[in-house]
Amino acid sequence: MNTATSTDAPVRVSFRDVMVEFPTAQGPMRVLDGVSLDIRQGEFVSVIGPSGCGKTTLMNILGGFVQPTAGQVLLDGRPVQGPGPDRGVIFQEYGVFPWLTVRQNIAFGLNLAGNKVPKSEHKGIVERYMGLMGLSDFAGHFPKHLSGGMRQRLAIARAYAVRPQFLLMDEPFGALDAQTRSAMQDLLLQVLQTEGKTVMLITHSVDEAIYLSSRIVVVTARPARIRTVIDVPFGYPRAENVHEDPRFAALRAQIRELVMQEYAAQARQAVRLSD
Ligand SMILES: Nc1ncnc2c1ncn2[C@@H]1O[C@H](COP(=O)(O)OP(=O)(O)O)[C@@H](O)[C@H]1O
Ligand SMILES: [Mg+2]
Repeated sequence: MNTATSTDAPVRVSFRDVMVEFPTAQGPMRVLDGVSLDIRQGEFVSVIGPSGCGKTTLMNILGGFVQPTAGQVLLDGRPVQGPGPDRGVIFQEYGVFPWLTVRQNIAFGLNLAGNKVPKSEHKGIVERYMGLMGLSDFAGHFPKHLSGGMRQRLAIARAYAVRPQFLLMDEPFGALDAQTRSAMQDLLLQVLQTEGKTVMLITHSVDEAIYLSSRIVVVTARPARIRTVIDVPFGYPRAENVHEDPRFAALRAQIRELVMQEYAAQARQAVRLSD
């Protein structure tokens, strides 16, 4: 069986004792604390934890948008210096350019310096992702004329089109209806099957995390620390019917319980802060 967690794959991403503090009027607020995590080539790692605990910050460090206050993040052994075309990012809020049409948005990354896809292939790639995302009829439309779900699909298409080695996805399917969400999950699995990427996904959906990931990282209430890392026992290619596997239900119960405990811890913190 083909498992993405093969332990001999090289480590591509390494969070080393990462701490982040943001300045606030009340003094520094710690958002991440002592986060250490290695992600190997071809792994699909999901991060799950309470709202506001620091998940987006964790992704932003790997994306090169936020510097750790202490510790470091290594990409292929070198500290992350800033954003780069090797990392395709899908932001929690729609990451599309309002001044570009659907077609231009998808083509945008392909035209950036540093992109290695030959010019002759651009048009075909753009058409392909427009088709896969159900956006072909809207090629010349601007984002303001699209529904929220369509804008989100456009953001996903833009990230996939440049074929980055790493996909960093921050709740990418959260704004989609259940049907589209499930189609997007299967499409992502297909893309990974053909292009082999290393993925970090933030999600609130326990089912989504189990269905897609090779490992699931449960983080604590703020400041986010790693509470548990869970290996998902299913290999790839992964089929819809893993949802019916008894191990799926057991994992779901285990992870839901952990996440609920962290939400409870967060609620207790909020009560303490208001005393
Ligand atoms: N650039 C920033 N400056 C100040 N505070 C921030 C910044 N980014 C995030 N925060 C705060 O850090 C906390 C964690 O945010 P975030 O990482 O977005 O959490 P999550 O994605 O888990 O919901 C929140 O309280 C948020 O308001
Ligand atoms: Mg977030």
